[in-house]
Amino acid sequence: MKGIILAGGKGTRLYPMTLGVSKQLLPIYDKPLIYYPLSVLLLAGIREIMIISTPIDIADYERLLGDGSRIGVSFTYQVQEQPRGLAEAFILGETFIGDDSVCLILGDNVFHGQDLTAMMKRVQEKLRGATIFGYPVKDPQAFGVVEFDENFHVKSIEEKPAVPKSNYAVPGLYFYDNSVVDIAKNIEPSSRGELEITAVNNVYLKRDQLKVELMGRGMAWLDTGTPDGMLQASEYVKAVQDRQRYYVSCIEEIAWRRGFIDLAKLHQLGAELQMTEYGQYLMSLK
Ligand code: G1P
Repeated sequence: MKGIILAGGKGTRLYPMTLGVSKQLLPIYDKPLIYYPLSVLLLAGIREIMIISTPIDIADYERLLGDGSRIGVSFTYQVQEQPRGLAEAFILGETFIGDDSVCLILGDNVFHGQDLTAMMKRVQEKLRGATIFGYPVKDPQAFGVVEFDENFHVKSIEEKPAVPKSNYAVPGLYFYDNSVVDIAKNIEPSSRGELEITAVNNVYLKRDQLKVELMGRGMAWLDTGTPDGMLQASEYVKAVQDRQRYYVSCIEEIAWRRGFIDLAKLHQLGAELQMTEYGQYLMSLK
C-alpha cells in the first residue's frame, strides 16, 4: 500500500501565521504539524509516501524530510499547481500509486489513540473498495458528514452540509483500492470548483464498496484549522508527553519500533538533535 500526504492549501484561516510558511510546517507543540499525519502512515507500516504541496512550499517539505532514507522509508514530492481539491491527489499520484492500493491522509489531521495501529491493520487486511472513518464532533457542518439510515447503514456522505444529518464527521484519513485513480478522473468539480473527496466516497457508496468505521471515544482526532485548535492540539500533545514521557508522533521512534531502522541509527539521529529534549529522548530509547 502506498501513502499520500496532502499538504497544500493556503491556510487562510490561520493568516497571518501562514502568509510566510505552509500550514503543515507550523508547530504543534514540539514538532511540525506534518509529523503527526506522517506518523499515522508509518504506524500503518506504509513506507512509500508521496507528499503533495504547492509550487512555493514543496521545497520546504523536501528540506524538512529529505528522501526518507534517514528513517528507512521513501518520500516522493509532487507539486499541485492549483488547489483543485483533495481528490486530485490520485490523479497527480497515478504513476506513484501504480497497481497498488493507497492511503490518503490530510497533512493537517492529528490522530492519537491506543486503537489506531490495530484499527489501521484491520482496515488494510480487509480493504475492499474504500474504507473511511466516522468521528463524532460538535460542529459537523465544517466537515464531510455521514448520513445513516435507521439500521446504521451509510446512506450518503455530504460535504459541509448546512444541516448535518448526523454528528459523525469524516476525518482526513482514507483507504482506497486501485480504482480510486479512475474514479478521481471521472468525478465533476463541485460548486467551489474542487474535486471533492466526498464525491469519490459517494462513487464507492453507489458501488456498495464504501465502509465507514466509527472511531470511538478513546481516539483523539484534533482540529488544527484555527489558532485555538492549534493551541489545544499543542496542549494535548504536551500533556500526554509530560505525563507518560512517551512522545506523540515521533517519526524516528516509530521507524525504529516498526523495524525500518535499527537502534544504532535511532541513536545517531538523536545525537544530531542532542541540543533538544527531542534528540535526548531518541538517544534514551532502548
Ligand atoms: C476536508 C474534506 C472533508 C473532511 C475534512 C477533514 O475538508 O473535504 O470532507 O471532513 O477535510 O479534515 P477541508 O477542511 O480540507 O475543507
